[in-house]
Amino acid sequence: MSLYERLGASEGIKAIANDIVENHLANTAIGPRFQNMKMTPDELKHAAAMFFIAGTGGPNDYQGRDMLAAHKGMNISALEFMAVLDDALLALAKNNIAQREQEEVLFILYSMRADIVLV
Ligand code: HEM
Repeated sequence: MSLYERLGASEGIKAIANDIVENHLANTAIGPRFQNMKMTPDELKHAAAMFFIAGTGGPNDYQGRDMLAAHKGMNISALEFMAVLDDALLALAKNNIAQREQEEVLFILYSMRADIVLV
């Protein structure tokens, strides 16, 4: 079964993506980053869900920027990157995703580090 299916397919992943963005907004380490975005929080939730769905083996309907283009010039630190990973793991646990799938998601997210931190 694909990771996409094991995360609950599109409905499951939309719920996880919503929770990740809500966690970011409430996270004092990174919350301010999401106050003055070009997109609204709802648009970011949608983009995050489509990105996740495409990246885990579901249909590819992602129309946003690649990770380098989306984060270039933001001067994102290593600590901020870790805070985003923490928020993702919290959201996965909240949605009853098992440890093995949590680890697979963490590995995929971590692999994007070089396109996001200090770019
Ligand atoms: C693996 C980690 C990350 C992933 C997968 C990710 C994913 C995304 C995606 C899919 C978008 C939407 C791009 C678009 O629609 O064009 C986005 C935008 C954004 N990301 Fe990330 N991101 C990550 C890490 C971070 C970190 C560490 C920060 C800062 C704390 C951050 C801050 C933002 C902001 C502020 C936007 C909105 C940009 C704007 O429109 O102004 N992201 N991210």
